[in-house]
Amino acid sequence: MSESNGSEGRRFPAPQELAASANVGPDVYERAEADRLAFWEEAARRLTWTQDWDQVLDWSNPPFAKWFVGGKLNVAYNCLDRHVEAGHGDQVAYHWEGEPGDTRTLTYAQLTEEVCKAANALIELGVQAGDRVAIYMPMIPETIVAMLACARIGAVHMVVFGGFSADALASRITDAGAVVVVTADGGYRRGAPSALKPAVDDALTRTEGVRNVLVVKRTEQDVEWTEGRDLWWHDVVDRQSPQHTAESFDAEHPLYIMYTSGTTAKPKGILHTSGGYLTQVAYTHWATFDLKPDSDVYWTAADVGWVTGHSYIVYGPLANRATSVVYEGTPETPHRGRWFELIEKYRVSILYTAPTVIRTFMKWGEDIPAGFDLTSLRVLGSVGEPINPEAWLWYHQNIGGGRCPVVDTWWQTETGAHMITPLPGVTDLKPGSAQTPFPGISAKVVDDEGNELGDDSTGLLVLTAPWPSMLRTIWGDDDRYVDTYWSRFGKEVYFAGDGAKKDADGDVWLLGRVDDVMNVSGHRISTTEVESSLVAHPAVAEAAVVGASDPTTGQGIVAFVILRGSAQDSGEDLVQQLRTHVSKDIGPIAKPRQIMVVQELPKTRSGKIMRRLLRDVAENRELGDVTTLTDDSVMNLIKEKLPASSSSEG
Ligand code: PRX
Repeated sequence: MSESNGSEGRRFPAPQELAASANVGPDVYERAEADRLAFWEEAARRLTWTQDWDQVLDWSNPPFAKWFVGGKLNVAYNCLDRHVEAGHGDQVAYHWEGEPGDTRTLTYAQLTEEVCKAANALIELGVQAGDRVAIYMPMIPETIVAMLACARIGAVHMVVFGGFSADALASRITDAGAVVVVTADGGYRRGAPSALKPAVDDALTRTEGVRNVLVVKRTEQDVEWTEGRDLWWHDVVDRQSPQHTAESFDAEHPLYIMYTSGTTAKPKGILHTSGGYLTQVAYTHWATFDLKPDSDVYWTAADVGWVTGHSYIVYGPLANRATSVVYEGTPETPHRGRWFELIEKYRVSILYTAPTVIRTFMKWGEDIPAGFDLTSLRVLGSVGEPINPEAWLWYHQNIGGGRCPVVDTWWQTETGAHMITPLPGVTDLKPGSAQTPFPGISAKVVDDEGNELGDDSTGLLVLTAPWPSMLRTIWGDDDRYVDTYWSRFGKEVYFAGDGAKKDADGDVWLLGRVDDVMNVSGHRISTTEVESSLVAHPAVAEAAVVGASDPTTGQGIVAFVILRGSAQDSGEDLVQQLRTHVSKDIGPIAKPRQIMVVQELPKTRSGKIMRRLLRDVAENRELGDVTTLTDDSVMNLIKEKLPASSSSEG
């Protein structure tokens, strides 16, 4: 198999020097195997607790887990104050760089003060422990400050990626029941200010319960103002006391909600809690990246609006006292060497990003990274989608100079932290494979009936034991939590929704989603969500959406639509309108790459849309089995329509 995957069966052993001083060695697997709970308990001891737990895990009511039962801690204290108290107040927590090139440096002492002020401001606004606070922000330090301020006072943050639309924001605010929104006038993206406040204003016409909007001034764009509701961050936060005593909360106190796409149109509010979550994000960040707080400069090049940002820009790195780089903008602004320039400037030693970015760099060519000094790098990470061996090898060679282990980390919003990944000082790396369940994690590949498969087989990925940073439920919907993840193989087996292969050595290769969820540039988008957006447009009678493989973004969104009678001959303009409609409705990441207007959709006799066939069409393949199709002339019609009605890019 390794011969056919493009890496010619090459293995990359851990660099000797790294292995000799690695935070974790090979014994970690045996220790975790011998006593899983004792292993996680030891990981939890890396944090500061104000009250010890009575029980490591309560799994008496699966799938509802409780970790470190009875334990108490403050998450923000663990990320901030304790480092200052230990004499590291002057260490840089974040080197922040704005897209236009402006910079800010925040030490642990300064960040602690900022967070205390913001916590006091939220308290002044009446926010209490357990209340939800929506955060809709660009990548600026105040975003992180707002998250930690919530954590500090026990409020539950709900960050919505700044690229989402007003509609998406409104439905999340409603579902979470947020009382305050933190936003900014805008942020910089692709060389221009991009407004955020108007989307909040629009969203708040459709949802109730938000008392105040705190607005950070970033771009100085004009904003509309609702007196009594809207407040400038600098007016309210800057005048607060920098003192705030962190109160301890239960290990199971809710920390945040993060919405993610599922197989229905309604996104799921994934709930994470405090003690177990922080334990696993901190431990994995330390072990997977071999983080050395005194010498490393760490950079997760992702947006804080996704789980990767929560776990590996904010909570993991801060709990480990890392010095991190945060960058506001996109990789091509103002030039295509921007990221490499930042690596050189800050002497970044650990870089964590997504395969889609690496493939984009590949397209731009190796001359660009070759023009910068990248010798500070020592560990590289990948996340969000399968990394193909070619991209892995390119990353290893052209960014890592052939010296840096590449760790391909598989995990999900739901899992909160790394679940399957090599360890840089331990594993013989295989390009393209996530390889090994993290110590203390039980991941298996099973068949459709749930029987565990041996080596050299392909099936479904499941997790067969609870883990500390697991989601606790779907916000407000325990039944959906059970149905979605814990019904297919019983209440003690978590169904991840990913296909996986175990190779002859027992290494795990992730094969992508097995449900109706697309993965576009590492972002999860539900086919149903895009379909319901399309049918909400007056011109569309019916829609079917598939993820077609895409050389850069992993998958691209391809939609097939049947128009209503009155809209029949609207043509190319209408296709553009529909693409814009979806972009406005959900967000630019959900904008279909291609929309094909068709007369009919292929359906089974029971009326289910046959996406597999549509995917064949979208990927220009010979059609697969059509025997269950009601009328296979439908596919011929679709294929005939293809060249004339398709529309790409733009
Ligand atoms: O399909 C898997 C893919 O991304 C999904 C989780 O998406 P999300 O919750 O948005 O979290 C992304 C960041 C953790 C998974 O079900 N995925 C994530 N990492 C990998 C991956 N697929 C293959 N290899 C990975 N390393």
